This record gives sequence, C-alpha cells and structure tokens, in this order.
Amino acid sequence: MTHQVALPAFYNDLDASFAEAWNVVAAGVTDRNSPAHTPTVGTVDADGTPQLRIMILRAVSRDSRSLRFHTDARSDKTAQLRDEAAASILVYDPAAKTQIRLSGRAHITSDGDLADTAWSGSTPFARRCYMAEAAPGTPIAQPSSGLPEWIEGKQPEEHQLADYRGNFAALMFQADSIEWLYLANAGHRRARWQWDQTQNLWLGNWLVP
Ligand SMILES: Cc1cc2nc3c(=O)[nH]c(=O)nc-3n(C[C@H](O)[C@H](O)[C@H](O)COP(=O)(O)O)c2cc1C
Repeated sequence: MTHQVALPAFYNDLDASFAEAWNVVAAGVTDRNSPAHTPTVGTVDADGTPQLRIMILRAVSRDSRSLRFHTDARSDKTAQLRDEAAASILVYDPAAKTQIRLSGRAHITSDGDLADTAWSGSTPFARRCYMAEAAPGTPIAQPSSGLPEWIEGKQPEEHQLADYRGNFAALMFQADSIEWLYLANAGHRRARWQWDQTQNLWLGNWLVP
C-alpha cells in the first residue's frame, strides 16, 4: 500500500516555488521559531577558506533581493566583507522540507541612516553585545563575556549605549542566485533562479535534485 501525501501547489510550479522560497526565508524575520531566523551566513577569508556562522535574520526585501543582519564592526566577518565580497546564506526548514541556498555579495555598513535605524530599532538588551571592550575573537586569559563588569547581567539604559554605537554594523547581503530543494517521497524538486542584470529579472530553471 502506498502512502499518499498531498503535494503542495508549488510542487510542479516554478514561479510558485520561487514565491515559496522567499516566503520561507522571510518567515525568519517575523517568526523566532522559524529556522530561517538563524540562517548560516558564509563568507570567504583571506586564505580562501569558507567561514560559516549563524546570524539572526533581521530584514528581508524581495524587491531589492536583500537580507539584513547585525554584527560587531570589529568582527572577523567584517574584515572579510571589506569590499563588496562573495557571500552565501543557507536555510534548512525541516517542517517546510526545504533547503534554500542564496548566493551573492555582501557588505558592511556601519555609518549612515541604515545602520542608525537598525541600531535604534534593536532592543537595549540586544545592543548590549556591542559593549564588549575588545573585538570579538580577541584571545583572553580568563573566561569572560567580554562586557564591562558594571553591565554584566543588567540591561543597559539608552544613554549608556550611545558610546558603543560605533561598534555596531549592519551586514547587507544581496542575492544573485537562489537555489531551492524541496524534499518529497513522490520525488524531490530542485530549481535555481539567477538574477539577470540586463533584463532586471530572475531567470529560473528546474534542476535534477
Ligand atoms: C543563535 C545564534 C545567533 C547569533 N546571532 C548573531 C548575529 O545576529 N550577529 C553576529 O554577528 N553573530 C551572531 N552569532 C554569533 C556568530 O555565530 C559568530 O560566532 C560571531 O559573529 C563571530 O563570527 P566571525 O568571527 O566570523 O565574525 C550568533 C550565534 C548563535 C549561536
């Protein structure tokens, strides 16, 4: 006896799969429990080694093909993104049975309106991370949060945070390729869309899974 599971409407529909891919990613902004809330962000270091880390997804714009993350301006990833650099984002949503791989370019922005708005839109507790005295990744002799002692275990006041704004940066990623893998017993589905610069649109294709 075969067990039939209803297939989603996007199963054999390339445009609907594209829309679903963005929906799965965008859910990460609004739903803390969505796996897309904590995607893996890949950059390449000076040796050419891929560097992967989890980051909280803060904003998604399908129109500008962009994802926003927040980070410490002194972190290693910031150095890896000094010039507009190659970057990838990976999401696996087990409930949606979907893997999404975004590739494109990323840069760091620490001055200006975008970073200012991102800073003031974050909770004081989230912004406390940027009060670390030394750069993230600095070797230390004793285990420590890196935060000044007076703020350990406390939520900072707005005026206490002002001095640390310079440590905060937004990481802006712009996709030029989106790859979709949907898992189904009836047969997996895989597709990729490439951003076409001249036509200003996404061109998609089914791929062998
Ligand atoms: C659940 C979770 C969420 C995280 N969110 C962020 C984040 O939003 N921004 C960030 O810079 N690091 C975040 N981190 C820490 C990074 O994974 C990483 O350890 C840190 O940014 C240093 O990376 P780098 O040395 O490549 O710069 C998070 C880690 C975890 C486990």
